[in-house]
Amino acid sequence: MAEFLGNWKRDCRCAELTEQDIGREVTLMGWVSRVRNMGGILFVWLRDRSGLIQLVFDTNHLDEKTYSLAESLRSEFVLAVRGLVKKRDAAAVNDKLKTGTIEVEVKEAKLLNEAATPPIYTDDGANENEAVRLKYRYLDLRRPSMQKMLQVRSKTVNAIRRHMIAEGFIEVETPIMTKSTPEGARDFLVPSRLHPGEFYALPQSPQIYKQLLMLSGMDRYFQFAKCFRDEDSRADRQPEFTQLDLEMSFVEPKDVQTIVEGAFKEVFQEVKGLDISLPLPRMTWKEAMESYGSDKPDLRYGMKIKNMNDWANDCGFSIFETAVNEGKRVCAMKADQASGQLSRKEMDALGEFVKTYHVKGLAWLAINEDGSLRSSFAKFIPQDKMDELLSMMEAKPGDALFLIADKRLTALNAMGQLRVKLAKQLNLADPEAYCLTWITEFPLLEWNEEAGRYTAAHHPFTMPMEEDFSLLEDHPEQVRAKSYDLVLNGVEMGSGSIRIHASDLQEKMFSLLGFTHEEAWTRFGFLLEAFKYGTPPHGGFAFGVDRLMMQLLGTDSLRDVIAFPKAQNASCLMMDTPSEVAEEQLTQLHLKRN
Ligand code: AMO
Repeated sequence: MAEFLGNWKRDCRCAELTEQDIGREVTLMGWVSRVRNMGGILFVWLRDRSGLIQLVFDTNHLDEKTYSLAESLRSEFVLAVRGLVKKRDAAAVNDKLKTGTIEVEVKEAKLLNEAATPPIYTDDGANENEAVRLKYRYLDLRRPSMQKMLQVRSKTVNAIRRHMIAEGFIEVETPIMTKSTPEGARDFLVPSRLHPGEFYALPQSPQIYKQLLMLSGMDRYFQFAKCFRDEDSRADRQPEFTQLDLEMSFVEPKDVQTIVEGAFKEVFQEVKGLDISLPLPRMTWKEAMESYGSDKPDLRYGMKIKNMNDWANDCGFSIFETAVNEGKRVCAMKADQASGQLSRKEMDALGEFVKTYHVKGLAWLAINEDGSLRSSFAKFIPQDKMDELLSMMEAKPGDALFLIADKRLTALNAMGQLRVKLAKQLNLADPEAYCLTWITEFPLLEWNEEAGRYTAAHHPFTMPMEEDFSLLEDHPEQVRAKSYDLVLNGVEMGSGSIRIHASDLQEKMFSLLGFTHEEAWTRFGFLLEAFKYGTPPHGGFAFGVDRLMMQLLGTDSLRDVIAFPKAQNASCLMMDTPSEVAEEQLTQLHLKRN
């Protein structure tokens, strides 16, 4: 039978007790984690969000009623006790518990609630099926690692908020029921009851609102913004996620980056005790693609990619020579001391792997410890050219080389993917290292083969680099943007840009993107209209708070860092959403069942 609190008041949380409290009378409340009945003496682990403390129920000091209550305790019962903090005997010390040198000798107890046998274990050791964990998320959140996750997340968000406020930012909330925003994913739509046949869209980001806030003179805005994107889930994508979103007036990229870097410094200091040195390194998009085959390079390990066209031009191997003649790229990468770890079969598997990135194949070469070679292509290369290759790549016995020939970006991207795969296979990335870097000067536009037109690489409000204005007309594909991404250990944390604030340039941008004047006004008219009334130069940034949490907590799924995440298929297994609604609701919304 559940009892009421009455005049009992909790003094502190279980694992906040230390040896300093020995001799203190305390009132504790929490969940029963484990019971051990030794006959006449009963040990109970009491748990709350701070951790565990051992309670001792001893028949010698207790009335019969309290002792029999103790005997009835089961896992997850909710218990309140009053007792005395004592030092444990040396032999009974438990090094694994934070409170392992003390215990509480119970004097009185109240059973605040019973609990049915939980369908999942609430400790971390158990390897529960994820679907069951998500169905019983409220129990899953009782696991110590999940309790820690929510606490670290709160600490992180607080550190960021503190930083933003100290830097003079104003926190503003923007609407959830809004109009389609330009982030490029599919929208979630909300049908309107009052406007038959019309829909609100949930924001993919507060992009337009924050730009309007600059127009309103807010100068420095930030918000922890919920964003909604109807795209296929991946380990680092959820349909609903949180961004730290910011915008600033009268700034250049460096000003925005300085604020973001400061926030990361504060978080790493507070959460990890690590001192990140600022300013963070910067690399242009072009350098990142050329050296790492990726716009989000993991810099915890080397394996830089090299341009081998000069060598390949007359290397004797017709595939490479033809590639160079056709204006393509031959690129190479070296994995130090990987030769012995990669059998022929594994090399062939890597060849199949790169083919999934649209290149025709992988040329590989492994140098045995005695200097002899195993290779898929060495037989085509004369000795002097082979010596040249090994020397250009600074290859030593034990190393492995990989070469790919294809269109420049196709070859670089495939090599970049291989770099990441090899680093995993060879365990090259230090899990304790955090390599943050800015990637700058992204291309302004991307050619969309399917649509037969350009799309904005970031979004249509991104400012081109002034140096490249002259290319806008004839070589739009070469125009670089004033945009920047922040990358941490190979993961895109966030992106931002300086925005276009001049309406003629904005119109030009829309026309490059294939919008007619009318289409641009239909879609973004309110913004174009607003921009007529004195828009300050402005720019901003947004980073994924969930993605940052993944890195801080060393997990590889967003579901591990969100209190109530969606499953892979975008459903919530706990609430059973999405779910059908009553016919009457559909009628009110002017919707018909298919
Ligand atoms: P962008 O679309 O690049 O930029 O998003 C910024 C950051 O948000 C995170 N993110 C996601 N996290 C989890 N699940 C998702 N589905 C998801 N999609 C994005 C990533 C990403 O880097 N308005 C612009 C920012 C700006 O220009 O100021 C924007 O939203 O960490």
